[in-house]
Amino acid sequence: MLVRIVSLLIGYAFGLFQTSYIYGRKNGIDIREHGSGNAGTTNALRTLGKKAGAVTLLGDCLKCALAILAVYLLFGRSHPQLVRLLELYAGAGCILGHNFPFYLHFKGGKGIAASVGLVAAFDWRLFLICAVVFFTAFFLSHYVSLGSLLGYFFFAVGVIVSGQIGRYDVDPGVLHEMYILALLLMALAFWRHRQNIVRLIRGNENKIYLGKH
Ligand code: G3P
Repeated sequence: MLVRIVSLLIGYAFGLFQTSYIYGRKNGIDIREHGSGNAGTTNALRTLGKKAGAVTLLGDCLKCALAILAVYLLFGRSHPQLVRLLELYAGAGCILGHNFPFYLHFKGGKGIAASVGLVAAFDWRLFLICAVVFFTAFFLSHYVSLGSLLGYFFFAVGVIVSGQIGRYDVDPGVLHEMYILALLLMALAFWRHRQNIVRLIRGNENKIYLGKH
């Protein structure tokens, strides 16, 4: 149990690095008081422009990938049977740190860019599938939130399918814990997007156009 908690806490510490908030502060604003109020890539793009969006995406992805790498390096040898699960705990901790940073009164982002880093570091094949799902949904609808939610759904289902076909090579108990974590992360993402979901249903969700429009 201790290694799980330590992995979660390491992830949380990495997640506290709020790229969009720092970028916004450097430009004289609190990103959480502009646009959708979310401290994330889409709102950085919306509020501060493409460079801010790209920097936020990179920073938030990287912090989660680095959290996973740190846990892999720390526990890979001592806990070979658990390390895949611990990577998920580190990713989950990072998303919690990103979404609920204690020093910003627990008001952070929705964890999507951090989740991109998680999936990329955890399973590159799942990452490719989720990326195709995200970009297809986004380019057809121009809703980032829709792409994010569909991508998350494929991530959770992908972890379960990958586990069932034996891709993770871990004990059944560990596998089930991985499934639960993946499903909880998906539930958290949907909860954080609850206002986006209402707007998607009503047809008034904000659209993002990357080219000139
Ligand atoms: O990255 C979060 C995205 O899915 C939605 O962001 O700012 O439109 O609520 P936003």
